[in-house]
Amino acid sequence: MGVSIKSPQDIEKMRIAGRLAADVLKMIAPYVKPGVTTQRLNDICHDYMINEQKSIPAPLDYRGFPRSICTSVNHVVCHGIPSDKKLKDGDIINIDITVIKDDFHGDTSAMFIVGKSTIQGERLTRIAYECMKIGIEMIKPGIRLGDIGYAIQSHAEKNNCSIVREYCGHGIGKMFHEDPQVLHYGNPDTGLTLKPGMTFTIEPMVNLGKRNVKLLPDEWTVVTKDHSLSAQWEHTNLVTEDGFEVLTLHPDDRL
Ligand code: MF3
Ligand code: CO
Ligand code: CO
Repeated sequence: MGVSIKSPQDIEKMRIAGRLAADVLKMIAPYVKPGVTTQRLNDICHDYMINEQKSIPAPLDYRGFPRSICTSVNHVVCHGIPSDKKLKDGDIINIDITVIKDDFHGDTSAMFIVGKSTIQGERLTRIAYECMKIGIEMIKPGIRLGDIGYAIQSHAEKNNCSIVREYCGHGIGKMFHEDPQVLHYGNPDTGLTLKPGMTFTIEPMVNLGKRNVKLLPDEWTVVTKDHSLSAQWEHTNLVTEDGFEVLTLHPDDRL
């Protein structure tokens, strides 16, 4: 395939798709409360994307995925399927939103702590955020993906957490998942050298326990093998002439 370089016109469309994905996360935040079902969160997001944004929820029917968003609670690492299960005090949940607008994708996810937080839930959520942020802030022309993966892995392991190996970040554009693969672990001075116009996600999955995962029989839900908590944050990023632009950063937020 090769890694695509986006044109200025493509980048403008990526900015719009990224902003819409960020808007969905902002919109859903107040609904994340004890007693709400993840199916309800899915339905609210779905209606907002279709009716308000006139965007397409990319997960729906993507390789057979049955819902419009992913909701990954506690020991679920990623690709959790919204269901009738209710959220409860102290749960941690990742909500992953991908929209398509004008043929381009915007992909972002965030952690929410439900009701009364736990120390461990808060700690893991913070470390996972720091891992993502450390990776994003390294983005600039000339740096290599292995440098970024190494820095992310080092931060997780320094805090006695682990990085999931089986799932990674990805190039993004007209396709949901494009080249390159963006590993959240690795070695300095290895891998792809970044160039202006590349767009890719950084989305480290960080476990409180061991890094190993297993796939549930529904063939989507990924959980930690040791049932330890897992957390993840995700942004879609552009390599600029002198650094990076976070395409899914909401204007009210800072990294
Ligand atoms: N949004 C996920 C990612 O960050 C992919 C979800 S695939 C789905 O790459 F089919 F589960 F939606
Ligand atoms: Co992604
Ligand atoms: Co995502």
